[in-house]
Amino acid sequence: MSSLSFDPQEYTKQLEVAAETLNGLLADTPELAKPRVMIICGSGLGGIADILAAEPKVEVPYNKIPGFKTSTVPGHAGKLVFGLIGSKKVPVMCMVGRLHFYEGYSFQETTFPVRLAKLLGVEVLVVTNAAGGVNPDYVPGDLMIITDHINFPGMAGYHPLRGPNMDNFGPRFQPLSDAYEHSLRKLFFEKKKELGITRKVYEGTYFFVAGPTFESRAEVRFIRATGGDAVGMSTVPEVIIARHSGLRVLALSLITNAGVGEKPPTSFDEEPKPLDEGMASHAEVLETANEASKDVQKIFEYTINEL
Ligand code: HPA
Repeated sequence: MSSLSFDPQEYTKQLEVAAETLNGLLADTPELAKPRVMIICGSGLGGIADILAAEPKVEVPYNKIPGFKTSTVPGHAGKLVFGLIGSKKVPVMCMVGRLHFYEGYSFQETTFPVRLAKLLGVEVLVVTNAAGGVNPDYVPGDLMIITDHINFPGMAGYHPLRGPNMDNFGPRFQPLSDAYEHSLRKLFFEKKKELGITRKVYEGTYFFVAGPTFESRAEVRFIRATGGDAVGMSTVPEVIIARHSGLRVLALSLITNAGVGEKPPTSFDEEPKPLDEGMASHAEVLETANEASKDVQKIFEYTINEL
């Protein structure tokens, strides 16, 4: 389905069929049938699903849900996990493995799960990603609560709300000045403090690129100059659709690598630095994510318990 041939009525029907399928699969566990929170796990952050209580829990592979695409990226499993979190047993649906625009999916396809979550009754989206640090203060392993974004593909016309508006979800002209809710960010920092977690957490601006290449040096300088603190290939489409659907949003980046913006040497007289120094790699992304995931899991468990 390309965004040009997108038919809102047909799309709504697909969403309703998917919702009915999930309602059928959750019929035996009524306490899970109306999730309040949707969690999207970023690269290497699938361990967040471990904070769900062991029982009751229902796992649904994406390929069992009509209309739902499957994730093709290593480190992204591709299943929805329904369960309860915290002492207050908050019902959640957790997306382990997300769908990206760079995989060739349209924005309607990549954001299908968010509108589906809305149909199931979700009120809050908690979204995570692995991102490259562009702010020179950031080092791998740092966290960044997203306070704002730059939708670079969107500014050039590749926008998840392009095409006919889905009036049954939200307005034609969706404001985004309040996309990342202050009270949810505050709650996250309160819980981090209460838990005594010392990992550095910044607040910053996420710069969305289409991918799949990591940035060139000149692109890193461009992103830094325009106000981006971290760069990544996801999250913004889901946040936009969540806000359009009336969901509250808490978004977190894990800095897995540093974007290299330094110009390569131009003189042939001096010994050149190796050009692969600091080069981003998917293996590095997954390794850093693994280590930081435990802190993220703890803070989320206590944050979501209050939602
Ligand atoms: N750039 C874009 N996306 C990413 C990066 C990066 O450096 N690291 C993890 N995801």
